[in-house]
Amino acid sequence: MLLDSVITTCALTRQFVAHHPGRGHPTDVVTAVDALTLEIYRGEVFGFLGHNGAGKTTTVRVLNGVLAPTEGSARVLNLDPSSEGPALRRRTGVLTETPALGEKLTAREQLALYATLYDVPARAIPNRITTLLRDFELVERADEPVGGYSKGMRQRLALARALIHEPELIFLDEPTSGLDPVAARYVHRLIQQWCRADGRTVFLCTHNLNEAQQLCDRVAIMEQGKLVAIGTPQELAQNLWKGTRLEIEVAEAGLAVVLATLRAFADVRDVALSDTLGKGTSVISASLPDRESVPELLAAIVQAGGRVYRLTLQEPTLEDVYFALHQA
Ligand SMILES: Nc1ncnc2c1ncn2[C@@H]1O[C@H](COP(=O)(O)OP(=O)(O)OP(=O)(O)O)[C@@H](O)[C@H]1O
Ligand SMILES: [Mg+2]
Repeated sequence: MLLDSVITTCALTRQFVAHHPGRGHPTDVVTAVDALTLEIYRGEVFGFLGHNGAGKTTTVRVLNGVLAPTEGSARVLNLDPSSEGPALRRRTGVLTETPALGEKLTAREQLALYATLYDVPARAIPNRITTLLRDFELVERADEPVGGYSKGMRQRLALARALIHEPELIFLDEPTSGLDPVAARYVHRLIQQWCRADGRTVFLCTHNLNEAQQLCDRVAIMEQGKLVAIGTPQELAQNLWKGTRLEIEVAEAGLAVVLATLRAFADVRDVALSDTLGKGTSVISASLPDRESVPELLAAIVQAGGRVYRLTLQEPTLEDVYFALHQA
């Protein structure tokens, strides 16, 4: 299948010059995005991961034509962001890291204002606003000034606003940061329903590895402006995380013997214990290089008198990959 590219970058670089008058080094150059080359395809939800300061927000700003690259190039929706920014931004939606909402305006007024700014045809506006307010659960408070909204409501409104002109490509910069787990899950559902289901392309910056694993088709991991890994979460896990994680639930009665047996296996690492809140059993976790030695391990535990209620092998998560990468 021929994949349709929505974003292509070639050695894209953005530097900032920080001035420190009066210090030994009057200027420092920070390379926020360092020779980034990547391709993003139509319809995918692409996760952009990295520590604070890795260059995620700067990349989004360059891809939208808000900042010019220092070197390298980008094509976004077949346009050059640095010279065709206004045309590009009509077709992209952006949820910025800290969205600025007009505090005195109501949700309905904000959406109407954005619809007009983005040239949504006048006859389509009322319907679009009604649908967004309904799906984003803002109807009841739609005519109150935003100044009185909670963080979760603000974030839903900011997301609705980013979608008002039905953009084909949407950038979400940390859409769930600062939200409680229920509000975050709600935003995930909205992303699935409003972005994925409609075939839009999503560029999602996040620190939240579970979020990336749940929502993204592919992810890229950035470190100090450089791309250090890219692929599906499964591919990254296979390439970067060689181990298998094991959980064994055993009766507390023979626990010491089971632990000693496990620790006697040369390949077993990271043996740790968590209790099961009064069930009379304990859960031991450990890691192994691969699954090949699991049958021998289980036989040895049973032979030593361990009573095993459950043994599970867990697939590595994106979190395992992330930490493996950052420890390397
Ligand atoms: N306008 C600016 N002027 C000077 N330096 C900047 C500017 N914007 C970003 N930087 C620097 O560029 C680097 C990358 O910042 P950026 O905001 O892109 O990172 P990020 O990955 O989005 O981080 P976070 O997870 O904290 O949002 C940082 O060192 C930051 O200090
Ligand atoms: Mg950022």
